[in-house]
Amino acid sequence: TITAALTTEEELQQLKSSLPNELWFNSYPMYFYQNCWNIILESTISCQNHFKAQDSDIFIASIPKTGTTWLKSLIFSIFNRKNYPISENPLLKHNPHELIPQLESIIYANPQNPDLKTLEKKLNYPRILGTHLPIQSLPTSIKNSNCKIIYICRNPFDTFVSSWLFYLNYDENTNVKDDMIEEYFGKFCEGKFPFGGFEDHVLGYWKESLERSGKVMFMKFEDLKDDPKSELKKLGEFVACPFSSEEEEDGVIDEIVKMCSIEKLKEVEANKSGRVYSFIENKWFFRKGEVGDWVNYLNPCMVERFEKVMSEKFAGYGLEL
Ligand code: A3P
Repeated sequence: TITAALTTEEELQQLKSSLPNELWFNSYPMYFYQNCWNIILESTISCQNHFKAQDSDIFIASIPKTGTTWLKSLIFSIFNRKNYPISENPLLKHNPHELIPQLESIIYANPQNPDLKTLEKKLNYPRILGTHLPIQSLPTSIKNSNCKIIYICRNPFDTFVSSWLFYLNYDENTNVKDDMIEEYFGKFCEGKFPFGGFEDHVLGYWKESLERSGKVMFMKFEDLKDDPKSELKKLGEFVACPFSSEEEEDGVIDEIVKMCSIEKLKEVEANKSGRVYSFIENKWFFRKGEVGDWVNYLNPCMVERFEKVMSEKFAGYGLEL
């Protein structure tokens, strides 16, 4: 079995040559590592080897384009509601990914020289981090600790469309073109996209949320859209930072919902310009934020194809997306 205990460059090269691999959109190499298409193998291994979780850590886990940015802004506001008046919320000056960095692609972006300063100094207590890693690839120290994980998932067709439009705006190294949607959809169905397959990623966290409900909370983008206030209350309770009835009466929850709405966040200068990630501008993290936009992009054949894949994989697990 492949373990995460790799250290040398030689071992890394050996591992790479032993794994199935693909060039993603003609540019970035992806490796099928631990049952997931991984586009940042070195960073993943580095954080698997070195990251030390603390029991108080909180992780926002997701497959890309399922509402990560939104959930980060909500969690940030839950924890910081007493530190700043809403008009001084740091979300008005910073992109949510700056305030809650991704473990593997920001903290460990440079695998040889991870940004431990941010981890140790800049992050407030508790440390809140994002991750797109599937559950089986999380560093062992996370699995062995009592830290909490909030997983957000979304209807796969909306996830697909959101990622398709996002990747169209990716850096110039990729050859993503308007007319490649069907080709990319084929890859999506096969799970061959960063952090895919979709079904395995979602199911991994779903099962864990059933087995360890105090540790893993499973959320849906659609529920957040439908009733953000109730979801926010559940989130507050899960992370042991519940809203009091006075706060609720004073409209604190409503304020946070409004502060974190896509309309509001889109107006923030840091979200209009600038980059947290070198390969994409911050503005592409905020598009429509709607449920069901996929009907404008997918034909019935495409839908049928993925529905078949999903119904087979999800059979018997009681999860509907
Ligand atoms: P769409 O492309 O369907 O609009 P992620 O943050 O995981 O990359 O997900 C991005 C998706 O979440 C995009 O979906 C984006 O528009 C949506 N989104 C971002 N911020 C949001 C917010 N505050 N409220 C609702 N949706 C939001």
